Amino acid sequence: MLKPRLLCVVGTRPEAIKVSPVVLELRRYSDVIETILVSTGQHREMLAQALGAFGLQPDEDLDIMQHGQTLSQVTSRALEGLDALIERLKPSMILAQGDTTTTFVAALNSFYRRTPFGHIEAGLRTDTIDNPFPEEFNRRAAGLVADLHFPPTQWAAENLIKEGKDTAKIFVTGNTGIDAVLATGHKEGGEWYPEHEGRIVLLTTHRRENWGEPQQRIARAALKLVDEFSDILLVVPMHKNPQVRELLTSILGSHERIKLIEPPDYAEFVPLMKRSTLILSDSGGVQEEAPAFGIPVLVLRDTTERPEGVKAGTAKLVGTDEERIYDEGRKLLSSQVAYDKMAHAVSPYGDGAASARIRYVVLNFLGIDSPQVKMWE
Ligand code: UD1
Ligand code: UDP
Repeated sequence: MLKPRLLCVVGTRPEAIKVSPVVLELRRYSDVIETILVSTGQHREMLAQALGAFGLQPDEDLDIMQHGQTLSQVTSRALEGLDALIERLKPSMILAQGDTTTTFVAALNSFYRRTPFGHIEAGLRTDTIDNPFPEEFNRRAAGLVADLHFPPTQWAAENLIKEGKDTAKIFVTGNTGIDAVLATGHKEGGEWYPEHEGRIVLLTTHRRENWGEPQQRIARAALKLVDEFSDILLVVPMHKNPQVRELLTSILGSHERIKLIEPPDYAEFVPLMKRSTLILSDSGGVQEEAPAFGIPVLVLRDTTERPEGVKAGTAKLVGTDEERIYDEGRKLLSSQVAYDKMAHAVSPYGDGAASARIRYVVLNFLGIDSPQVKMWE
């Protein structure tokens, strides 16, 4: 008998990190299901690097990335490529994660091709379609067509229920990013800058809505913190986007206690997070991972679709105002009381078994029985 065929579609670094544990889990059941890893290639080096940390590479690669790509170009190139692939491979189901343009395209293609679609990390919401841009639109669109929704938390599930989604299709799984972090997170951070005896502040910024002036303000605030605290080493793994790199280099490029580095691969980045005293970031994934290690993170955004870390007290939404970022950073770096208040390990995003829950529900949807795991509450 022919096995059902599942396409897991990824395009960017965070999707690779969050979908890899699901692919690895599904492949433990390769006697009953064929799992094909598809890359749109929206990201190139960063995607290969992230998959590599899990020993994976795409079975199919649309290789669409161009420097300076517009959203429409990514959408149309991925849409066409994926459509041809669906025609050729005739999958029983398609899975995609999160809110990137690749995810939106995978959902739209599934809808056009009348192929069931499962949405990993469903139900995250801000209350404005423009922020984050264009991710809020992407995830809402994916939610419109999904046959299975995998919200990471109860809060995300409630967002879907409020929108009138069928509760029988909603399964709270925890975030697969926590599966990923637990799989690699046992390494300590000691190998990062052993010669530096002081503290490390880690900065990552790449969000589209922060390009240009907001990012300038972020970089200037970070520079001020380095100038204020002489024991601080600022480490900035730079996203591959040339526009982002140029700006960060122009403001932060010539200070002896600032390291602008190539993005470390995931297995190296996790220990770098652990070695850090404080994280400044506009990343979605980093916001979820830092709380697991009890490292305070100042979120460089005006809104977040991940309020759980803020509620738990390890993340603080500070926006992109230069003075605000500097003030909040200074407070944490100079007051042990303020720091200790934020620095406690909590895991509001998952327990490391999200992939197994997704595997159970997907196989069940396709009529295949497999060992069940209690849902995440
Ligand atoms: C994309 C996602 C964003 C996600 C981010 C994760 C969309 C609209 N945006 O944003 O949600 O948070 O990925 O990092 O889906 N580049 C390279 N090599 C790479 C990757 C990128 O050179 O491996 C450069 C290219 O010049 C590319 C540019 O970065 O044109 C921007 O990439 P793109 O995927 O369009 O947007 P991101 O800002 O990375
Ligand atoms: N990450 C990484 N190397 C880096 C920066 C980030 O491996 O240099 C990981 C990080 O741990 C998280 C993911 O990449 O799992 C987040 O990716 P990104 O910030 O690009 O996207 P977002 O989560 O904001 O969509």
